Amino acid sequence: MSDAFKDFEHAGWESVAAEYDLSFGALTTQAVEPLLDSVGARPGMRLLDVASGPGYVAGAAAGRGAVVTGVDFSAPMVGAAAKRHPAVEFRRGDAEELPFDGDGFDAVTINFGLLHLARPDRALEEARRVLRPGGRIGFTVWARPVEAAAFGITLGAILTHGDMNAPLPEGPPFFRFSDWEECRRSLRRAGFVDPEVKKIPQTWRLAAADALFQAMRTATVRTAGLLARQTPEALRSIRAMMANAARLYEKNGAIELPMPAVLASAVKPNVQEVEGFQSLEVKG
Ligand SMILES: C[S@@+](CC[C@H](N)C(=O)[O-])C[C@H]1O[C@@H](n2cnc3c(N)ncnc32)[C@H](O)[C@@H]1O
Repeated sequence: MSDAFKDFEHAGWESVAAEYDLSFGALTTQAVEPLLDSVGARPGMRLLDVASGPGYVAGAAAGRGAVVTGVDFSAPMVGAAAKRHPAVEFRRGDAEELPFDGDGFDAVTINFGLLHLARPDRALEEARRVLRPGGRIGFTVWARPVEAAAFGITLGAILTHGDMNAPLPEGPPFFRFSDWEECRRSLRRAGFVDPEVKKIPQTWRLAAADALFQAMRTATVRTAGLLARQTPEALRSIRAMMANAARLYEKNGAIELPMPAVLASAVKPNVQEVEGFQSLEVKG
């Protein structure tokens, strides 16, 4: 199941890199500074940005003076990021099997990446492995559809006019980490301590009401897959309903959709202390 889902995501991200940048870039970059703050990004820090996409986080971290590496499994994404930020190292690699030795980074960031992974818990464990003791992880995901209007509108239209169960490779729940307690639980389970979670307000500004359908159809993977599997009649109704709903958010000649994010961060505990404790226990 997971391999089929990963193959599906991989094929998708290989083909939507340019559209993603055009449609989502102005939105997901709004979380970059809070995300970098959550890991204390500063000059000289060794920072790994996982699922780096077009390189937004990596570029901003380099701008803060950090020594940055970006890793993503999509070749077009890595190519676009390297072109945009020639001074930053970008590599192809899988978030669930990071191509780096242990303890080599002071911080790991994942901006809107975790919700696309077949095995997100494995990616959190990998992040812990490559972090030095005391290093920080920070990740963002979308808030629930009831708050993140673009998803509320899209899923509401599919529920009304289409088939939410159209066959897609089965993957983890898209909104799993929108649940703050699930973030804390998952971070602890992956071996992190002191998890912190907060909301990041964001606004998606679209030039026209129909731009929401076009973005979801051409610049996403799982949502686009669901839309692609609807009948032509259903798709027409979904598109019309999405445009009508988006129009309710018209402001200053554009559509302004609230799209808050959930930002979670935590610390890799000091292994020496843990090991010292264990060896004391063994001696005792
Ligand atoms: C929604 S985009 C986020 C891009 C970027 N971080 C941003 O701030 O907009 C998701 C990214 O995750 C990458 N990705 C998905 N699964 C991955 C995996 N298993 N390993 C590495 N990258 C992955 C995709 O190629 C894509 O670039």
